[in-house]
Amino acid sequence: MSTFSCEQLKQQLQQVIVGQEDLLDRLIIALVSGGHVLLEGPPGLAKTTAVHALAGSVHASFQRIQFTPDLMPGDLTGSEIFEPDKGSFRFQPGPLFHEIVLADEINRAPPKVQSALLEAMAEHQITVGAETHILPPLFMVLATQNPLENAGTYSLPEAQLDRFLFHLIMQYPSHEEEIEILRRTRKVDDGRLDANLKSIAKPEDILSLRLQLNGIHVEPSIEKYVIELVAASRDIKTYIPEWDGLVKAGSSPRGAISLLRAASTRALLADRDYVIPEDVIDLAVDVLRHRLVLDFSAQAEGIDGKQIITKLLEKVDAP
Ligand SMILES: Nc1ncnc2c1ncn2[C@@H]1O[C@H](COP(=O)(O)OP(=O)(O)OP(=O)(O)O)[C@@H](O)[C@H]1O
Ligand SMILES: [Mg+2]
Repeated sequence: MSTFSCEQLKQQLQQVIVGQEDLLDRLIIALVSGGHVLLEGPPGLAKTTAVHALAGSVHASFQRIQFTPDLMPGDLTGSEIFEPDKGSFRFQPGPLFHEIVLADEINRAPPKVQSALLEAMAEHQITVGAETHILPPLFMVLATQNPLENAGTYSLPEAQLDRFLFHLIMQYPSHEEEIEILRRTRKVDDGRLDANLKSIAKPEDILSLRLQLNGIHVEPSIEKYVIELVAASRDIKTYIPEWDGLVKAGSSPRGAISLLRAASTRALLADRDYVIPEDVIDLAVDVLRHRLVLDFSAQAEGIDGKQIITKLLEKVDAP
C-alpha cells in the first residue's frame, strides 16, 4: 500500500519552486488526469526546473527534447534500423518513449515534427512504417514556448493546441519571492535546486489515483454548466455582444471533456468524490483559453483568451 499523497507531492515541489502555486497545482492535476501541458513564459521563470522536479518526485523516466528547426520526425519517434547480420529491421525507440517528456521550445520545430508529437499525444502511440508502438501509460508531454520571440518560430496549429489539457501562462515572481529564489539558489553550487530531490511516488501510484477518477460524481447541473460555457465560447455575439467578431472559433467538444476531467481531478485531489462549480470555474481559463481562435481585431483591442473566458464565467450562471 502506498502512503503517497498529492499534498506531499506539492510540498516537495515547493521545496524547489518558490511561489508559482497555480503552476504546481495544475502540473499535479495534469499528471493525475493524464493531460499534457503547454507552458508559456519568458526565459528564466523555472519552467524547466519545475518539470525536472515533477519527474524526479514521481520517479518517472524523463527526457528533455530541445526543439530546433532542423529536427526530423524520426528524431522524436525513433526509426527502423537495418541489422545486416540478421538481414532485418529493428525498431529503435526515440526520445518520446518516456513517461515525462519535456518538449522545450516546441514552436521552433517545423510542422511535420509537431504533427509527429501530435499523434503521440492524442493516440498514446507512435506509428513508424507499418508498425504501431504503444507509449508508457503515464506518458505526459510538457511543452514550453517563449512568447517574446516570433522570428524563426512556427506557431502551433489549432489541432495541436487542442491536445493540451492546460495552456499555462506564467507570471513573474513577486519581489519577496525573488529574494527567496536568490537565497535558495545561492545555497547550491550549480544553481540546480532539484538536484537532491527524492522521489516520493512511483508511476503506479499516479496511475491508481487516476483510476479513482471514475468514481467522482458529476451532477447533471455541472455537466450542463460545462456545456453551456463551451457553447457560449462559440456564440460570443449572444453572451458578450460588445466583443462580437473577436472570436473566430470557440472551443471544441474536446474542450468540454477536458474541462470536466480537470475539474474531476481537482475534486479528487481535494478529497471530494463530487465536482463542485468552483472546480470548473478555477480551471476554465487554463483549459479553454488556447482553444479559442481569436480574430486579429482582438489583439488590436488588447483582448486575450483569458479575458474572454473570464467574461464568459460572469455571463453563464453557475449551478
Ligand atoms: N519560482 C522559482 N523558484 C525557484 N527557482 C526559480 C524560480 N524562478 C526562477 N528560478 C531559478 O531561475 C533559474 C532558471 O530556471 P529555469 O532554467 O527552470 O528557467 P526556464 O523557465 O526553463 O527558462 P528558459 O525559458 O530559458 O528555458 C534556475 O536557477 C531556477 O532555480
Ligand atoms: Mg528551460
